Amino acid sequence: MFDLPRLRRHPWLREVEFHDELDSSNVRAAALAARENVACPQLVLALTQTSGKGRGANRWWSSAGALTFSLLIEPESLGLRGEQWPRTSLCAALAVRDTVAELSQADDCGLKWPNDVYHSGRKICGVLVEAPPRRSDALPRLVIGIGVNVNNSLAAAPPEVQSLATSLVDLTGRAHDLTDVLSTVVTRLAENLALLANESPALRERWQQYSLLDGRTVTVDLGPRKVTGYCLGINAQGALDLATELGVEAIHAGVVSTVSPEFRGANDE
Ligand code: BTN
Repeated sequence: MFDLPRLRRHPWLREVEFHDELDSSNVRAAALAARENVACPQLVLALTQTSGKGRGANRWWSSAGALTFSLLIEPESLGLRGEQWPRTSLCAALAVRDTVAELSQADDCGLKWPNDVYHSGRKICGVLVEAPPRRSDALPRLVIGIGVNVNNSLAAAPPEVQSLATSLVDLTGRAHDLTDVLSTVVTRLAENLALLANESPALRERWQQYSLLDGRTVTVDLGPRKVTGYCLGINAQGALDLATELGVEAIHAGVVSTVSPEFRGANDE
């Protein structure tokens, strides 16, 4: 299923841990993060997850053929400062977007802030970045969890699921080599993180270019309150700029609860 020797030769990865089954690769990576001597970046790869984590209280369900993995990184060793960490999820989403767009040979693929990848109006990837607790004198570590629908066809799923999610096999009509897809995503993520460390304008231009919420009225749930505004795009800090009645508000974190008009794809205007 996976060519592990090839993954272990990936130039950016220092360690690869493979599991036939895990509850969640993010939970496993967080457990590794608590250890003293762990080589980072480390890939934690699960063939299947029994209890995949999504954002907030959500679960991440995926069937056989999906890619589910987490990358454990030491941000400081990669030149990333604390204020840049939240943007690592956009770096991951962009890495998947570019990989999926190339394999599907379709540009109808973009980012739903802050960390989802959509193709043809349906979700194909979710990203969950977590900062596990560490001793105050230890180097901080981040877990970047990525779930991509690759060879898990949704053709037999209920219509309501099919209208919300898609997979590479459904888009292209052929199965994809999971090692190729994973290796390409890791390479692109490594490149994006290096660009982030250097505050490269090229990186922010790309997440601005592929932002799917622009030009729509968006409501973001911030917990204590909700903000509704016309989306102007994702700014250099990775925040969502919303034009509200009170002016432009930069939203740094939150859950997008409604989008109007809903998008059916990147080219649906
Ligand atoms: C979301 O869309 O809510 C984020 C989903 C993130 C899912 C991935 S699958 C690999 C990694 N391990 C987990 O338990 N979750 C992430």
